[in-house]
Amino acid sequence: MQKTVEIAFETKFEEEVYNGLTAFPKHLSSMYFYDETGDKLFQDIMNMPEYYLTDYEFNILTANKAKIGHLFARGDQRFKLIELGAGDGKKTKILLKHLIAKSYEFTYQPIDISPTVLKVLEQSLHNELPELQIEPQQGTYFEALKKINAANGTRKIILFLGSNIGNLMHEKAIDFLGRIQQLMHTDDLFFVGFDMKKDPNTILNAYNDETGITAAFNKNILARINRELDGNFDTEKFLHWEVYDPESGTAKSYLVAKEAQTISIEKLGLTVDFQAWETLHTEISQKYDENTIKKLAQKSGFEIVCDFSDDAQGFKDYVFRKV
Ligand code: AVJ
Repeated sequence: MQKTVEIAFETKFEEEVYNGLTAFPKHLSSMYFYDETGDKLFQDIMNMPEYYLTDYEFNILTANKAKIGHLFARGDQRFKLIELGAGDGKKTKILLKHLIAKSYEFTYQPIDISPTVLKVLEQSLHNELPELQIEPQQGTYFEALKKINAANGTRKIILFLGSNIGNLMHEKAIDFLGRIQQLMHTDDLFFVGFDMKKDPNTILNAYNDETGITAAFNKNILARINRELDGNFDTEKFLHWEVYDPESGTAKSYLVAKEAQTISIEKLGLTVDFQAWETLHTEISQKYDENTIKKLAQKSGFEIVCDFSDDAQGFKDYVFRKV
């Protein structure tokens, strides 16, 4: 007779940890990297010389802020600048400063799941740009977007920087883009960053720094399970491993068990066996080419308005509009 066990999970995190660690091969979602420790480690990653993505996009925004400002304000219309996953706002500040200097009329609405991230961002923006109208929205992207939509019909510009889209494999990315598209109106714009295919060595190094910051970031998901779910992972017994496939453009992060071990996660009443050299897949960071981006846009109901890039085409910010 088949037994079905009903497990009541208190959070999505619990459910995903349970499902991911009882699956074969094992996996966890990179979404859960970002607790307070993970947020800090990601700040450190953005400041590493190997992590070229931040610098490239920073330079693109700096070089093109006037053109971008024109696109956003479209001859002085009031607009809402909505940012999905705002972080510390280092790149966004380039645009915000320019938009304010031009006296464009807009409200900045950063959306983030973390209330702490939003508080810190709001404080630093108040200090640096006291004139800025800011309305932080705590919640998931879609909850917050729906709330913003319900409030009024002002034109929306939605920012999704940093190649955050790269955490989603194409099918899921199309799904995600399609849901954004459905929450947009004809005049709204979606401004989205893509990390492009480039020398595979450059890509590998960005996710495999010698200082071990990325390894600590990857292992933080185990540390988080220890902290929040009473787990007993020994992070020393796992190896951070990065692979990049230059054909598909997919960079993948793993944690590899250096020896056989049994982990207990008290809060889930779960014991997990790892064999020696068994893998736990934690993240994908997809790299793109123009054709792939065109396909993603087309399949999710968008057309490309234009794109901004550095000379070497290492990174691109695209502007999408609903078809
Ligand atoms: C924040 C998803 C864009 O995939 O490049 C950085 C996260 N992971 N180093 C990326 C990350 C390892 C980052 N994104």
